[in-house]
Amino acid sequence: MIDLHCHIIPMVDDGAQSAEVACRMALHAVRSGVDTIVATPHANLDPDQPNLRGHRYDEFFSLFRALLRQHGIPLRLLPGTELFAHPNNLDRLLRDRRVVTLNHSRYLLTEFRFHSRGSEITAALDRIARYGYVPVVAHPERYTAVQNDARLAAQWFAKGYILQLNKGSLLGRLGAAAERSSHELLSLGLAHVIASDAHDTQYRPTGFVSLLPFLERRCAPEYIELLLETNPQHIIADEPIPVPDTYSDRRW
Ligand SMILES: [Fe+2]
Repeated sequence: MIDLHCHIIPMVDDGAQSAEVACRMALHAVRSGVDTIVATPHANLDPDQPNLRGHRYDEFFSLFRALLRQHGIPLRLLPGTELFAHPNNLDRLLRDRRVVTLNHSRYLLTEFRFHSRGSEITAALDRIARYGYVPVVAHPERYTAVQNDARLAAQWFAKGYILQLNKGSLLGRLGAAAERSSHELLSLGLAHVIASDAHDTQYRPTGFVSLLPFLERRCAPEYIELLLETNPQHIIADEPIPVPDTYSDRRW
């Protein structure tokens, strides 16, 4: 399985706070059947600070990849970031291509303020698409606008934007509203990917051990495979995600 969203690189954001924690996160993921993690530290949370594009990113990424090898942890680590879409510098970053996409593909993982208006999020996603990227909406179920009206997520889905649900939301660890919304999106077929968005080994851990039985009770095996394997694989291979005509009509 592939985990597309994970704050595993140590000491670059609010994720892994030491190399030891990061290695434990990696081991836990591997033991749960995850063979690939895209490392997605926050980028651009503060638009006045330089973001993680370039030299500094490559350095942190390579150091951690070397550490995994040194410890013999059989995990494929791929580059990425979770870009915070600030309206005042988003255009500049996209124009200058100063963003680290998921494994340098066309897919850009993007997050927003939880209370952003739906129209603001849509405008930013459209802007990202105009620059030739495919936006991957990080945890749509955590935004109030989607919690209040799932049709917003349906509009993004129809435009070909990718919806990435958080494991923690589905399992009820990120509040009741996110839990309800994630269940709704999942049952409507409005999800392309589920990822860990892991930050540590305890509260927001890596791995899909508790997620799998949850999904098996609710979803067809083909849907589970799409969410954890097939769609993430298309993304890291920079391939389009095929959408069957009947996708949203199917009962999962
Ligand atoms: Fe995240």
